This record gives sequence, C-alpha cells and structure tokens, in this order.
Amino acid sequence: MNKFEVEEELKNVLYPNLNKDIVSLRTIKDIKVDGNSVTIEITITNESVFATIEEQIQQTLGISFDNVDVRFVASQQKKSINYGSTATPNNRAPYARHIIAVTSGKGGVGKSTVSVNLAVALAQMGYRVGLLDADVYGPNTPRMLQVQDEKLRWGDNNKIIPSENFGVKIMSVGLTTPKSDTPLVWRSSVAVSALIQFLEDVDWGELDFFVIDMPPGTGDIQLTMAQELPLAAGVIVTTPQMISVDDVSRAIMMFKDIGVNIGGLVENMSYFIAPDTGKEYAIFGEGGGEETAKKYDIPLLGKIPLMMDIREGSDNGMPPVALGSNEIKKYYKNIAEHLLIQLGLL
Ligand SMILES: Nc1ncnc2c1ncn2[C@@H]1O[C@H](COP(=O)(O)OP(=O)(O)O)[C@@H](O)[C@H]1O
Ligand SMILES: [Mg+2]
Repeated sequence: MNKFEVEEELKNVLYPNLNKDIVSLRTIKDIKVDGNSVTIEITITNESVFATIEEQIQQTLGISFDNVDVRFVASQQKKSINYGSTATPNNRAPYARHIIAVTSGKGGVGKSTVSVNLAVALAQMGYRVGLLDADVYGPNTPRMLQVQDEKLRWGDNNKIIPSENFGVKIMSVGLTTPKSDTPLVWRSSVAVSALIQFLEDVDWGELDFFVIDMPPGTGDIQLTMAQELPLAAGVIVTTPQMISVDDVSRAIMMFKDIGVNIGGLVENMSYFIAPDTGKEYAIFGEGGGEETAKKYDIPLLGKIPLMMDIREGSDNGMPPVALGSNEIKKYYKNIAEHLLIQLGLL
C-alpha cells in the first residue's frame, strides 16, 4: 500500500460525533509508509477523541500493515503566533460553504447588529445561514434574534441543537449562561475551546453562509478563528468617529496580514436621521468611510444611519432587516448584496 492508498483508507475513519472523516476534515499531517509499517501524523488537539480515532485507524490499517503508528501532533498553526501560519487554516466547519467573519476595532460600534441583520438578509434571499456569536465577552446576538430565553438543548446524536429564528440558526455562549447577557470572565484559552466546541459539536446542518460575530479587536479569538476556519471574507464594522482611530486600521491590517480576504467595510451610525423630521445630520462629518476604504483598497459595503428604530428593534429582538421600515431594510439588504458581489456570487 502506498501513501495515497493509505489516505484513501483513512477516509473510512470518522471523527466522533461529526459524521465527517478525518481526511476531509484535513487533520492528516503526514503519512509515512515503510515496508510493513505505517506512521500517521494527525493534527487533532481534542484529547478526548484520540483513543477512538486511534482504534479506528488501527482496525482499518491493521489489515494491511504489521505496525500502525498513530501520532497526535499539535498543529503548527496552533503553536505559532506567527500570522503567516494562517495561510493553510484547518477547517472545523466543513458543513459551511462561505464563512464570513464580522469584526471591529472597538466594541459598541454595531458589529452584532450588522452580523445579525446580514445573517437575516442572507436567509431572506433563500440561503441556509448560521450565526455564531464568537463575542464571548459580550454575547448579545441571542437578544437581537429573540432567542435569549432558550436553553441549551442536546439532540439524539449528542450534538447541541442551535436555536433558530428569522431563518437563522444561532449559537452563542449567551445561551449557555443562566442569564443571556451574563458577562463571562474567561481566560482566552477557555473562550477559544468553547468556540471550537460550538464549531464542532453544534448540529448546524449544511450551511450556505456561516456568519461569525467576532469579538472586537485583534486578539487570540480572531487569530484562532482565522487558523481554524477557511474564512471567505472579513467584514469590518466601524463608526465615523472611529475611522480616524488606529483600531480600525489595526483590524484591517490584521486581516491583511493573515491573508483573509476583506469583503469590505461597513460604516455604521454614519449620520443621524431625526425620527420626527427625517432630517439628516452628519454629526461626525462626511466621507470617512470612503476615505478609509480607499486608503486600504477595500470596498465600502454600505453606510447605515444612526436611527432610533434600529436601536429599538435590535434591542427588542426585532431585527430591522426583517421588521423595520422598507427604508431600514434596504440598508442591510444592500450590504448583503454588495458582499455577495464581492464574493463573486451575484
Ligand atoms: N445604526 C444604528 N442606529 C442606532 N442604534 C444602533 C445602530 N447600530 C447599532 N445600534 C445600537 O448600538 C448598540 C451597540 O450595538 P452592537 O451591535 O451591540 O455593537 P457591538 O456588537 O459592536 O458591541 C446597541 O444598542 C444597538 O442597538
Ligand atoms: Mg456585540
């Protein structure tokens, strides 16, 4: 048996609870065949599955080889803090076709609002959409989709059943805590493991789009997501007053450094529309989003005004793109369409 035949055989070895084989999950790092011996190096870091996987491999390859040596090695990407290593990310979400990471330099700029409404807009177009709330320190997407009172449920297949509303499947640590907005005090390594579990142990089904509401900034979680998932595009949310601030450029540079295609920039709270008169006020001046987009050579996906209806709808679990006025719906629908164009899907 040669290396390729061994790889073919390994396609019979399933990752526990995932219904995907270890080859298509891209966990095989190396295969060495030496006469009657074979050595397999696997980059899986979840120790609880080592024994099951090794046993399956022994059974599968034991027929053809006298010696089967299975080694679990830490993935290079995991150990290295070098951004370059994200060039060949793992794929912990093989069920998702396009993964979109929504991020921002700072919190409070409307990242979750954009994530939620982008996800709902894509679902309205007929796509199968999942939303992962990766902002473990400020998980507010359950409230925005009105699922904050749901409790974690496990399915027969030992996988978590995601909550679902407005056509979007959603998972958030907010759904695992007693109160949906209980703040978490976690080391980033714990947060990272929780998110990996949400990627691997949630019954997402097949998804056309997987929208990830990232935490703000450029920390461990962002990096891990870029290492563990093949991101189709990063979307950066900012407000005009943040444009001049370094955080936005840092978020943009991080995506560029780690080789993530930037789907574009969303300028949120761009200008104020007075609810009584409908008059527009450019409180923070105009043209900031355009300038930043130009400076970094990334598309401006759209601008969303600061509106009371957006805040009220969002905070009350009524996503503006689903239940807002036609005018409000358009802001988000346009952004979704622009993103599809950037991805070459429209
Ligand atoms: N365009 C907007 N107009 C009015 N309020 C908004 C707008 N976008 C977001 N908000 C409100 O601003 C607050 C912060 O938004 P959120 O999406 O939670 O930010 P982040 O996820 O970046 O911390 C929320 O109360 C939200 O309802
Ligand atoms: Mg948020």
